[in-house]
Amino acid sequence: MAVVGLGWAARTIWLPRLAAHPALTVTAVVDPSPAARAAVADGAAGVRVLADPGELSPELADLAIVAVPNHAHSSVAGALLRRGIPVFLEKPVCLSHTEADELARAEREGGAVLVAGSAARCRADVLALRRLVESVGDVRHLRLAWVRANGVPGTDWFTRRSQAGGGVLLDLGWHLLDTAQFLLGPLEFDQVVAATTHDFVNRRAARAVWREDEPDAARPEAADVEDTARAFLVADSGVSVSMRTSWASHAAHDRTTVEVHGSAGTAALGCTFGFSPNRLGGSSLTFTQDGRVTPVALDEEPVGAEYDRQVDALAGLLADPAQRGKAVAAARRTIDVIERIYESAARAAGARKPEEVPA
Ligand SMILES: NC(=O)c1ccc[n+]([C@@H]2O[C@H](COP(=O)([O-])OP(=O)(O)OC[C@H]3O[C@@H](n4cnc5c(N)ncnc54)[C@H](O)[C@@H]3O)[C@@H](O)[C@H]2O)c1
Repeated sequence: MAVVGLGWAARTIWLPRLAAHPALTVTAVVDPSPAARAAVADGAAGVRVLADPGELSPELADLAIVAVPNHAHSSVAGALLRRGIPVFLEKPVCLSHTEADELARAEREGGAVLVAGSAARCRADVLALRRLVESVGDVRHLRLAWVRANGVPGTDWFTRRSQAGGGVLLDLGWHLLDTAQFLLGPLEFDQVVAATTHDFVNRRAARAVWREDEPDAARPEAADVEDTARAFLVADSGVSVSMRTSWASHAAHDRTTVEVHGSAGTAALGCTFGFSPNRLGGSSLTFTQDGRVTPVALDEEPVGAEYDRQVDALAGLLADPAQRGKAVAAARRTIDVIERIYESAARAAGARKPEEVPA
């Protein structure tokens, strides 16, 4: 395995899990930043430490895990795919339809498979919720919310549109929309209305402490992305989806809620996605019908278990020819909704006074 982009995600999520996995070996690590290379080079005997992903080859790695800033996802992953190197690409897989098209072409022309990072699909509680969806009858509505108390990523690029593509919607919202597809299958939306706000993103106290990012002191408080997105979507099938995602809020804890409302009952999951330590215990799953709330037993699992599962699944995904094209197809549906949420929010902002509108 090669790991491309040696920042927080590589150091905290991927490298420790790859090192601990009995069937996987890290053969190369890549980052243009000397400091990032130095931070992982310790104890990396036999591992090639490279500055440019162009130095990777199919002989050096069977798969590259790509965890670079969002704006470089499609160019870095696309170039690797074209050279025949399979890629596991962090979310958001793409920032536009144009980038999705480029990834699809690169996957086809290079003959190497693209696998998308999809943490929520590997959570035991989300898997249990999916089994429960069969009991709700005809699905009418999906409620998705991931609201943090204080969880704005402090690295400079994450809150700059030019490098992140957008704010919390592309970050946490991508996970929620991926969860929607996992629970209900592909949905085509006829209607999308949304609003975005930015009340917290420039407050130092709203930063995600667990990331331990060093903010750029030279450019403080200059975010130009939303910290909150609220949207209401209606699919051509009549199913509606409400979604709220916030990097920061007035809440005391970080909470994720996924509710599936159907003709025969409601399945509701309360939990906390991600690594935030500011969580209220574990996950709870209930089924409600005719006024009776029935708790559904869940196995407690440690924070981050969904990432262990993604690493365990890598070899199988690489060997499975049915994976080809799947990641891009799912990413296209997700980026379609995200683009339409931003369009609707921009229309709403257009109707407001200039001083009320985000930069
Ligand atoms: N799945 C998850 O839960 C999860 C969690 C955190 C981050 N992420 C995703 O992982 C990605 C990285 O996030 P992060 O928090 O590690 O960011 P980060 O800023 O900490 O690290 C990014 C690293 O990529 C390097 N880089 C930049 N351009 C590069 C290039 N062309 N080739 C190789 N390396 C390059 C940078 O020097 C930096 O070291 C983001 O897309 C983010 O959305 C996913």
